Amino acid sequence: MTFNERTSNERVVLAYSGGLDTSVAIGWIAQATGAEVVAVACDVGQDGEDLEVIRQRALACGAVESVVADLRSEFASEYCGPALRANALYMDRYPLVSALSRPVIAKALVAAAQTYGAKTVAHGCTGKGNDQVRFEVGIAALAPYMKVLAPVRDSGMTRDKAIAFAEERSLPIDVTKKSPYSIDQNLWGRAVETGFLEDIWNAPIEDIYEYTQNPSTPREPDEVVIGFTEGVPTSVDGERVTVLKAIEILNQRAGAQGVGRLDMVEDRLVGIKSREVYEAPGAIALITAHQELENVTIERDLARFKRQVEQRWAELVYDGLWFSPLKVALDSFLTEASRSVSGEVRMTLHGGRAVPTGRRSEASLYDFGLATYDSDDTFDQGLAKGFVELWGLPSKLAAARDQRLASSAE
Ligand code: ARG
Repeated sequence: MTFNERTSNERVVLAYSGGLDTSVAIGWIAQATGAEVVAVACDVGQDGEDLEVIRQRALACGAVESVVADLRSEFASEYCGPALRANALYMDRYPLVSALSRPVIAKALVAAAQTYGAKTVAHGCTGKGNDQVRFEVGIAALAPYMKVLAPVRDSGMTRDKAIAFAEERSLPIDVTKKSPYSIDQNLWGRAVETGFLEDIWNAPIEDIYEYTQNPSTPREPDEVVIGFTEGVPTSVDGERVTVLKAIEILNQRAGAQGVGRLDMVEDRLVGIKSREVYEAPGAIALITAHQELENVTIERDLARFKRQVEQRWAELVYDGLWFSPLKVALDSFLTEASRSVSGEVRMTLHGGRAVPTGRRSEASLYDFGLATYDSDDTFDQGLAKGFVELWGLPSKLAAARDQRLASSAE
């Protein structure tokens, strides 16, 4: 069978990145299954290579159709927005950059499968990572009868074989150009792994960063005021913005100050510990500002409980369960908990950090009269005496009992 003589009209929708693996996968899948391949390249704000060039490349590699899905606004408002409301940080640090993009891509793949009459979706993930799980579990949740092909994982498409395949067929892809790193990037941040980073004692070098400047380079600090409405950003320095725009601005401004770099060893869902270097300037700046506004506007017990929900939410999303019933139910909680999270936070961006320096809100629970130590104090200190006594009563009773028993045992 040659490239263009297909034996069947079955169609497969492939998540296409434009790299070696997915370029080879087009012909590989066609050869292995006789199906026609529809390539779908997703724009999740990754910048870098021109997506029209990538779209054309898929056609040159034998795809029968090739489309670019612009998912930026949807990704910003339906995925990054909720992650911000959840202050989502896996293992208290990682803002879920790749984990957030997989479900929106899965949704676009399923939509393309419906448009192009495909019953199968394909991806280029290996069997060692989280992304295979996120794609496949996401696709199954959206279209339970869809079949999945994973040629890199399941049909022996190793790197050497992929290079040989590309050379044999003169695919328009420079096999020597492949970077030593595996990189995944989008609007919410950038992840870099493999190469010399696999030795976890090796420090990251400046070369691997693209979204952030070196935080230790001397420069003037930048002051920014971020406005939120019900937990999502709606203004920057007083100008109304979409969520997408807010993230783009903060990526630039916080990135220029080296904010949001992160080097960590993380627990993958498949059980492996792996080392990843991240840079997420917009995400980290926005989460920092958002947490600060929550401190002022969310009632104490709700805030304490929300922190537990946040951790669980981040784990579910990391583990590929974006569309799961528990995650959806937690979203309802987060929406309700964010009702009062409107107002503004002023921050200084400098030296790799985003530091809040001011907050104001119509929904503030901060009461100057109650908090002040000045003469305007409205707090009735007389109430504290009885409160403290009753609050400590259970511990006091238990301690007295323990001492009594200890001395009678002597
Ligand atoms: N470890 C991250 C996650 O599972 C990122 C995965 C993709 N990373 C990469 N460098 N290709 O969410």
